[in-house]
Amino acid sequence: MSGRILKIAHMGQPILQKPAAPVEGYDDPQVLQLIRDMEATVSYMNCSGLAAPQVFVPLRVVIFRVLTTTNNPAYELTPEYDPEGVPWTVMINPTLTPLSDQITTGWESCLSLPGLMGRVSRYHSIEYRYLNKDGQEEKRQAHGFHARVVQHECDHLDGVLYPTKIEDMKDFGFKDEILRSLF
Ligand code: NI
Repeated sequence: MSGRILKIAHMGQPILQKPAAPVEGYDDPQVLQLIRDMEATVSYMNCSGLAAPQVFVPLRVVIFRVLTTTNNPAYELTPEYDPEGVPWTVMINPTLTPLSDQITTGWESCLSLPGLMGRVSRYHSIEYRYLNKDGQEEKRQAHGFHARVVQHECDHLDGVLYPTKIEDMKDFGFKDEILRSLF
């Protein structure tokens, strides 16, 4: 019953541009296996989040976390990084609504664009709802980086990748070059 490490779809692969379908029946064994495989994949990749379309499955499933501490200096560039972090969270059929019009700009990266990062505007505060692994509805409020991660992952479910939201293409490039220029 353990998870497998899945192949990641990279930008240009059409599945990343298509809206994903809602999960019908959270206790579908194929969905539960998908979740186990996504958990194994994010653990192996040591990343913040993963959406099912990124592993070639067009369903509305996301897994993410926010680290308490991290060696990734990109997080320091993000306004109001939440020092307490958020534990690994599996979201089925998530939805989100902004809590205000406040927008913040911060750096993002994505497993589907290895080695790259870009600066993107997001809602600062959101409320989001989802079904957990047991099929129970949950609701949370999020601010700053936590809200950014949820918005980034939910965008994947609508076929949207972060580069399409970069306003100035000077804010897009290879992580090693950008981090070297910023620190
Ligand atoms: Ni991503």
